[in-house]
Amino acid sequence: MRKTVLLALGALLAFCGSALADNFPSRPITIVVPFAAGGPSDAMARILAERMKLTLGRTVLVENITGAGGSIGVGRVVHAAPDGYTISFGHLGTHVANGAIYKLDYDLVTDLEPVVLLPSNPMIIVSSKAVPAKTLKELIAWLKARPEPAAAGTAGAGSGSHIAGLYFEKATGIKLQFVPYRGTAPALNDLMAGQIDLIVDQLSNSINQVRAGTIRGYAVTDDKRAASAPDIPTTDEAGLSGFHMTLWSGLWVPKGTPKEVVAKLNAAAVEALNDPQVQQRFASLGLQMPPADKLTPQALGDWQKAEIVKWWPMIKAAHVTLD
Ligand code: MLT
Repeated sequence: MRKTVLLALGALLAFCGSALADNFPSRPITIVVPFAAGGPSDAMARILAERMKLTLGRTVLVENITGAGGSIGVGRVVHAAPDGYTISFGHLGTHVANGAIYKLDYDLVTDLEPVVLLPSNPMIIVSSKAVPAKTLKELIAWLKARPEPAAAGTAGAGSGSHIAGLYFEKATGIKLQFVPYRGTAPALNDLMAGQIDLIVDQLSNSINQVRAGTIRGYAVTDDKRAASAPDIPTTDEAGLSGFHMTLWSGLWVPKGTPKEVVAKLNAAAVEALNDPQVQQRFASLGLQMPPADKLTPQALGDWQKAEIVKWWPMIKAAHVTLD
């Protein structure tokens, strides 16, 4: 009797999941960006949302839910209904580093379903124009000579810009005073105003201000120069050999979202990534497309797990305190 009931229940759940997927989407979808509007995450999500709407036939909204290095926004999605209507936009910081820093009320791997890997970009070391250094070597010497640690803007503990700052400390032996913001858009405003000294920022966020000369760009954290910033040397060329970091992004949905719904969201995102106009907008921001063979949900899941293995030891060794 019990087995019969369980089998019937299983069949009913499968039928409901399939029915949900058949009608999906029947109303607007929300992509939760866990950082402030105007930043690199927000910019990528809005470009993607605009194109995914054409495939899905429903409005795709972007909602900025900030705080705690992005973990508040991610948590909002983790606890949302697993129906495909609430999507988590995140990256190396929110979906890897946060797990090594915060006591999260969710598991970054088992409480989310991966949807698709998104474009990535190297970081760029940028400073206020008030900083006298003209090269990366001069910047590192200036940082080492300071009586007090320089102020480095981040998007909060565990954000990509914070992890990059920790990595920069480890690679140079300097100490930074991290100043958290709700995203690197407000951090960049303060950098331009000379309120903070530097950011190890996503290239896509700083590139326009470097080009405009309102901030100074020293090097990109890659082994080759960025096509969108050919005059900025690599860290290898600038004297900090091997200081490489790529900040990748992705989309996730709550655990339990029907596979058919995940597949529809994945297909809409992949169609957007293959759209030449979308590719041109991403390229102008210095964003690199993910490899074509890494666009399945499984590929993002495998990548996230590998990045946890790669980054958690360095992050945990930094003993980040959450004041
Ligand atoms: C970060 O992790 O630094 C974020 O990407 C900043 C942002 O998107 O505002």
